Amino acid sequence: MRKEKSAGRWALGGVLSTLVIALLPGFALSQEGGAGEVTFTRDIAPLFQQNCEACHQPGQIGPMSLITYDQVRPWAPMIREKVITQEMPPYHYDTNIGIQELKEDKRLSPEEIATIVAWVDQGAPMGDPADMPPPVAWPDPAEWKFAEMFGQPDLIVPAKPIDIPAAGQDLWWEPLVEVPLAEDRWLKAIEVKPSVPGRRVVHHANTTLYLPGVDGELEGQGGRYTEYASGKLGEIIPDGAGRLLPANSFVRWSIHIFPNGEAIEGEVTELGFWFHPEGYEPQYVQDLANYRMDGDLDIPPHGTAMVTGYHSWDHPVRIDSFQPHMHLRGVASSLEIFYPETGEREVVSMISNWNAEWQLSHIYEDHVAPLVPAGAVMVVTQWYDNTVDNPHNPDPDVWVYRGSRTGDEMSHSWIAVTHLDQEGYERIKAEREAMTPVAQAGGDG
Ligand code: HEC
Repeated sequence: MRKEKSAGRWALGGVLSTLVIALLPGFALSQEGGAGEVTFTRDIAPLFQQNCEACHQPGQIGPMSLITYDQVRPWAPMIREKVITQEMPPYHYDTNIGIQELKEDKRLSPEEIATIVAWVDQGAPMGDPADMPPPVAWPDPAEWKFAEMFGQPDLIVPAKPIDIPAAGQDLWWEPLVEVPLAEDRWLKAIEVKPSVPGRRVVHHANTTLYLPGVDGELEGQGGRYTEYASGKLGEIIPDGAGRLLPANSFVRWSIHIFPNGEAIEGEVTELGFWFHPEGYEPQYVQDLANYRMDGDLDIPPHGTAMVTGYHSWDHPVRIDSFQPHMHLRGVASSLEIFYPETGEREVVSMISNWNAEWQLSHIYEDHVAPLVPAGAVMVVTQWYDNTVDNPHNPDPDVWVYRGSRTGDEMSHSWIAVTHLDQEGYERIKAEREAMTPVAQAGGDG
């Protein structure tokens, strides 16, 4: 699929996109059912309110607003292309394999894609103004996104301010900041928030926790606290699990900035923490860790590469989220579980249209998050394409090596894991089995 999609994007738009669309399950059905006349005010506006406006409004990360007919109309042909290739909304995850129930899943359904395509193909008509739904009252873009769910953060840790020039090279801003916290607290949620103007230039903002070691020197704690990427909301730690924010810690920021034409003075990106009440004791501890992959990552000009990492635990675990990390040659990634006793191999997640611009975390819904028995093996695979077929490839004529610059490659995934014991594992399994078939429908397919 991926090659068809990328070729469609760059060369044979029409023919191949029609092919891709025809392959989307459900498309034929809605087309035969006679989509009928599709209008902006009746059919498209409600769909965009739900799926596009959060980013495509003033003060958010989308490059243009998609709220009124006048704003949307000039973009109609490009919107058609971007929804067919499933580049927009940005959520890259295969629809026909592995677990499909994900939190913060932004994908459109095949019917919604077909509706948008039919509308553009019919000349993108406005329709009756009386059909226009009332505008959405979006929260202030400067607000924390999680505030709607959890109220204001219990603790805010700002990075140090930085002046961003209008033009120039990528910048990395890596201040070390003290976390003003006198006692350990268990976290409920974490969100990273650039300022409103900063949102257009802050591409990634990662934080690593540092604690004083035996000699008082600060030591990085390996695991990342959170990884912000354009479009990613933050992290919610599932109920019953806990991630600890230890007292007297420090946060090392790593903020990657692309100047984009507008100078910003004193940009401050903030980290917000929501705590469980004092005295809360989680049943199980969750961690977000970096799982590395082995294998040769020296990619020749016009070559490809594949790397795989294996990991198993001596206790049962639940995998809560999966976020592959690669750069511009990265094209696909999968997460599987291998059961040595039966030889069975189960695909949990597959992303075959991976895009380095969107470093997304796929968070499994609580009732389908994969339960991994002690001794089973988590297998993560990542694929790289240094040929001209990869539309994101800046230069297929050079060798690519491991490294952290954008033109180098990396091979790891950030995976949140809740560490269970046998009793917890059995209990969660039994709870899931007891769920009604309705609640389970569309389960872990
Ligand atoms: C999570 C935020 C987000 C959501 C949701 C989102 N977009 Fe976007 N969109 C962006 C960003 C950021 C860009 C610019 C970067 C890029 O092209 O990847 C973009 C780019 C685009 C472009 C290309 C503009 C250009 O100049 O190349 C189109 C068209 C588009 N979006 C349409 C849509 C439509 C239609 C929806 C809803 C069905 C949607 N987007 C949902 C963030 C979003």
